[in-house]
Amino acid sequence: MLQEMKLLLLLTFLSTVNVFSATKLKPNFVLIMVDDLGIGDVGCYGNKTLRTPNIDRLAAGGAKLTQHIAASPLCTPSRAAFMTGRYPVRSGLAAESIFGAFIFSASSGGLPKNEVTFAEILKKEGYSTGIIGKWHLGLNKEQRDDFYHHPLNHGFDYFYGTTVTHLRDCIPGNGSVFQAGAAQFLKRTLVIAVITLFTLIFLNYNRFLKIPRKVFEYVFLCLIIFVGPVIFFFWKFQYLNCFLMRNYQVIQQPVVYENLTQRMTSEAVKFILRNQNKPFLLFMSYIQVHTALYASSEFRGKSKHGIYGDAVEEVDWSIGKIVNELHKNKQQNNTLIYFTSDNGAHLEEVSSSGEVHGGYNGIFKGGKATNWEGGIRVPGLLFWPGVIKPETVINEPTSNMDIFPTVVKLSGASLPQDRIIDGLDLMPLIQRKSVTSEHEFLFHYCNAYLNAIRWNQKNSSSIWKVFFFTPIFYPEESEGCFNSLVCPCFGHLTTKHDPPLLFDLSRDPGEKNPLTPQTEPNFYNILRTIEEATKIHRENIAVVENQMSLKNVIWKPWLQACCSSWLEFCSCDQDEKFVLA
Ligand SMILES: *[C@@H]1O[C@H](CO)[C@@H](O)[C@H](O)[C@H]1NC(C)=O
Ligand SMILES: *[C@@H]1O[C@H](CO)[C@@H](O)[C@H](O)[C@H]1NC(C)=O
Repeated sequence: MLQEMKLLLLLTFLSTVNVFSATKLKPNFVLIMVDDLGIGDVGCYGNKTLRTPNIDRLAAGGAKLTQHIAASPLCTPSRAAFMTGRYPVRSGLAAESIFGAFIFSASSGGLPKNEVTFAEILKKEGYSTGIIGKWHLGLNKEQRDDFYHHPLNHGFDYFYGTTVTHLRDCIPGNGSVFQAGAAQFLKRTLVIAVITLFTLIFLNYNRFLKIPRKVFEYVFLCLIIFVGPVIFFFWKFQYLNCFLMRNYQVIQQPVVYENLTQRMTSEAVKFILRNQNKPFLLFMSYIQVHTALYASSEFRGKSKHGIYGDAVEEVDWSIGKIVNELHKNKQQNNTLIYFTSDNGAHLEEVSSSGEVHGGYNGIFKGGKATNWEGGIRVPGLLFWPGVIKPETVINEPTSNMDIFPTVVKLSGASLPQDRIIDGLDLMPLIQRKSVTSEHEFLFHYCNAYLNAIRWNQKNSSSIWKVFFFTPIFYPEESEGCFNSLVCPCFGHLTTKHDPPLLFDLSRDPGEKNPLTPQTEPNFYNILRTIEEATKIHRENIAVVENQMSLKNVIWKPWLQACCSSWLEFCSCDQDEKFVLA
């Protein structure tokens, strides 16, 4: 009996040792995404005046992707693609209307449950999975506490951050992205209401009609029902839309922004310390450098590029702290760090006083919300000492959807077999086991509309890009959408092209000189090849519920997250005091 017990104990011990060493072999992942950062803002991509030494160190010690493409030029769809490794149209996170990203915390759309995120797969592999910062893929669906789209229902087991996008309206004195639209709505509604009332009174007075008192009451009621919530919403915007959560709990409403980047950093450091003996995945999703811009006192006024530069330099500091923590805990060689931005710099962001609040896209044309290279070509760095050689530079096309299969494979899991994954494992390219990208075609969507296609032609240096339509963007193009903050994907602010516009990015990365049948003898052959690939691609897109339909993006008061009673106007502050050496 005793012998058997001993044997059993020994076996248990051996198996735990085995499990332990097996899990220890699994690499950690720190995936860093900055919001709206331009490729031209970073030192290692050529910026000389913004100081980003910590980001540059990742490039010097690892791999730099020079043609790293976001799956969409806008936050919500780009992040949906990043989390799932699939084009945003596949998950329904591509809008048919002009509202391409979630702007209200209490809307019902979001990442559907049947989508699989890399966090979900890694959690099953025994990973600790955390997200710190911006989520932007929905919160509730039917009730204010169903948390249907919440990160904790998509494979993360820790969340500290915000569920919807950051906006100018979140910080008093930073202007508003809504005011003009809301004012117009109110004006129109009031005009209609007044005209209706006067008509009714006139008809009544002249005894054309005997109008019951009830009708007047109904008109008045309608006015309150439609106008009331709008007034209330904008009056209390910071409380309703700018709040911070820890897991399922709202802990700060409205958010105190000033030192938020520092608090996020402290959260990241604590997450790394908590998981020293367990493989982990940390998605560090910075809320900066989207407007409204902010920076802690240590960084304010220190950069050469106003508050925008200050915010970038604080993010860089934060990344340095995280890398340093990995180093201190001897996790550096067992951790893959990835650095990117969700889309290109938002060039239209200029404050009311004329200060530039959007970043820089270098030599690339356009910016956020456009499929010009400036909207989708983002920084992409991978750092992993001992695995990725220092100063590796990859010029081949890669996508932010590639992180999904890369991370899943490295964790030891296999890719889901029941769906199309559009991303491709990055490791063969980065470790120089293959020299060309397997991405032959990349499809550039403007929300739900196929806007442009990139063809990385095999056995050729050419990278063709065709546009079916382009935004009328630059201010010099009269009536451009530069002044409307976000370019639309259809309507009078776009130009249709038939035949499509054709560029060769290898010769013309700035997309300045469209090719013609005269300048490119293969013009029609190229278009034909792309057309065939498009046909196959379209056939492979299944119809799914549109998460960005109007009904899914509007504010629904009954879904509003609120940390106190409505009478106290949803306000609280239970965040920990900031401590970081
Ligand atoms: C560096 O970034 C800033 C801020 O976006 C920009 O204004 C500046 O032109 C960039 N400088 C260079 C040399 O790229
Ligand atoms: C990490 O890897 C690098 C490069 O292979 C090596 O020089 C260094 O000694 C390693 N550090 C640790 C703590 O193992």
